[in-house]
Amino acid sequence: MALRPLIVGNWKMNGTRATLAEARAIDRAAARHPAVEVGLAPSFTLVMAMAEAAQDIAVGGQDCHVKPSGAFTGDVAAAQLADAGASFAIVGHSERRALHGESDALVQAKAEAALGEGLAVIVCVGETEAERDAGQAEAVVAGQLAGSLPTAEGAAARLAVAYEPVWAIGTGRVPSVDDVGAMHRAIRARLGAAYGEAGAAVRILYGGSVNAANAAELLAADEVSGALVGGASLTAESFSAIIAAAAQQQDG
Ligand code: PGA
Repeated sequence: MALRPLIVGNWKMNGTRATLAEARAIDRAAARHPAVEVGLAPSFTLVMAMAEAAQDIAVGGQDCHVKPSGAFTGDVAAAQLADAGASFAIVGHSERRALHGESDALVQAKAEAALGEGLAVIVCVGETEAERDAGQAEAVVAGQLAGSLPTAEGAAARLAVAYEPVWAIGTGRVPSVDDVGAMHRAIRARLGAAYGEAGAAVRILYGGSVNAANAAELLAADEVSGALVGGASLTAESFSAIIAAAAQQQDG
């Protein structure tokens, strides 16, 4: 991993103020491994409290709206995230794409809104099991990238891409290291086509059932520059082990 590894926890719809103790413990683990950049994306309700408690981790939102303000009941603007202390936003997670009908164009608009408010952005892509079985995985991901990567000037400098095969999320199943490497190489090529030289510095995270036991192997795959972690980011015990695995890879 030539790029500084980025390990991000996506807490999804989990966590209350009581859970901030885990975030503090994760923050202490991040402080022990300065070679690794660590982020946590809790529910909107916890962003401000977590950002105030955090010293060494970035705090982000799991989504944002495309508009800066207005009559959008239940939505949260990128500017509001930034105001609450967030420094990044995840956009286009497969759960948003599937459960909220988010299109590539909407994901792209969200990414640009987040960048416009000074946030870094993680754009998620990934194929379904049926698409992989049909031999379409790379084509599907290429299409998602073409439609959802931000095109704003300088976008690459604050962008990460998370490759998360839908069938690996929350299932305990992961692709082979070879398949991860092949997909990440394909994504790297697309980033080069989209951003030129700047595309080489965009971190490509793997996500989908990353845990303390498989992190080292997945992080060692070709062009993997970090991980987006769901279930295993909810406790400091498991998430710290993943951070440590990334740090160890940097050392060796
Ligand atoms: P998981 O989720 O680690 O629980 O599979 C990953 C994600 O959805 O980002």
